Amino acid sequence: MITPWEVEGVISYQRLIEDFGLSDFSELRNSIPNPHKLMRRNVIFAHRDYERIIEAMKKKKAFAVMSGFMPSGEIHFGHKMTMDEIIWHQKMGAKAFVAIADMEAHLVRGISWDKTKELGMKYVKSIVALGLEKNAVIYFQSKNSFVKDLAHELSSEVNFNEMRAIYGFTGDTSVSKAIVSLIQSADILHPQLKEFGGPKVVVVPVGADQDPHLRLTRDLASRINLFSLEKIEKGIRVRSKREELLKEVAKLGFETKKFSGHVDVFGNHEEIEEEIRSLEVDLGGYAFIPPSSTYHRFTTGLTGGKMSSSKPESYISLFEKPEVAVKKLRSAFTGGRATAEEQRKLGGVPENCVVFEFYSFHLVEDDGELERIKEDCKSGKMLCGECKKFAETLLLEFLKEHREKVDEAESKLEDYEIIG
Ligand code: TRP
Ligand code: SF4
Repeated sequence: MITPWEVEGVISYQRLIEDFGLSDFSELRNSIPNPHKLMRRNVIFAHRDYERIIEAMKKKKAFAVMSGFMPSGEIHFGHKMTMDEIIWHQKMGAKAFVAIADMEAHLVRGISWDKTKELGMKYVKSIVALGLEKNAVIYFQSKNSFVKDLAHELSSEVNFNEMRAIYGFTGDTSVSKAIVSLIQSADILHPQLKEFGGPKVVVVPVGADQDPHLRLTRDLASRINLFSLEKIEKGIRVRSKREELLKEVAKLGFETKKFSGHVDVFGNHEEIEEEIRSLEVDLGGYAFIPPSSTYHRFTTGLTGGKMSSSKPESYISLFEKPEVAVKKLRSAFTGGRATAEEQRKLGGVPENCVVFEFYSFHLVEDDGELERIKEDCKSGKMLCGECKKFAETLLLEFLKEHREKVDEAESKLEDYEIIG
């Protein structure tokens, strides 16, 4: 069972792809310039419409990356993955938007406003410490009136049947969940408002549990637009909920044919789409492009299951004290054998090892080095004790560096645009 508020049971990523209607990411990997390690290692396993993002990167068109963090607990390595993905896209030319989901933390998790502020600033400093550059918009939801106003507008486009179908809401579900869902849709769509440069492709890197929000947002995006576009063989079929606007489409200078209820526009798909979008913006509409998204695997908790802020023994925080971090790592589940002798003979099973996952997702940048660890494990050359010791060294190095960079970030923050 997977919803944004609950992830339970064993996760089959293949089933998630099928059930949610996602696309397999591995098919795209070879067309991405300098893919991130999470892409190379198939940690990012699925996407929606990521082709558009690749095209924007390659053709150097304007695009954005946006994701959010709920300040309800400690920041752990699961959050770091999303931060790294935002930063990577920013390096690839995206305008970055980072939401601190204080409204969600307050409404759904009952965290006080003072606490959401305090925790939220830790997220902000962490993402800056990890390398987010200045050309970014960082905001607290509760302080961003573009987002709140847009959520308000979006609410008229959705009814409870749809909320129930997407999120599994029942008669007992708190209305706050509907509210935070609309706020999140607004988070995702607001980079396309004219105040932020207008319609553009936007990629939202998230964990797979967030996909319901993306489905809702994609529906809302097309529903709230004045024009809906459908590809036909020689051009684009345009419909509008305000039929009188179709006259304006006919004036754009393309060859057109008017039918009752729609107009067909002939010519190059991209050119037509672009012209119609700018017409819509001139007419006061949004002309949203449905957001693209990528999905990463859940970080396994140290003791098995999903890493979760609500279970301290399951995660290592980016601010963990060295002795606590070491203790947690030492108790982590491995793919080792019952005895040293057996392991020398049969080798370990890195595929079932939380420590190996830590190397792969978080600690080791270089593919060759990761491969060497894997081989030494599988051949039985390296035993778990030695392996954990090495992981410990890398982890402590990272934590120390992160603390230092967070301290530096503190003085850098004034150069950043922070709405909060
Ligand atoms: N709901 C997300 C979480 O629980 C946080 C979030 C808020 C978010 N706004 C967002 C994620 C926009 C992606 C895009 O982690
Ligand atoms: Fe995991 Fe390392 Fe043990 Fe292999 S040797 S099972 S990678 S801890």
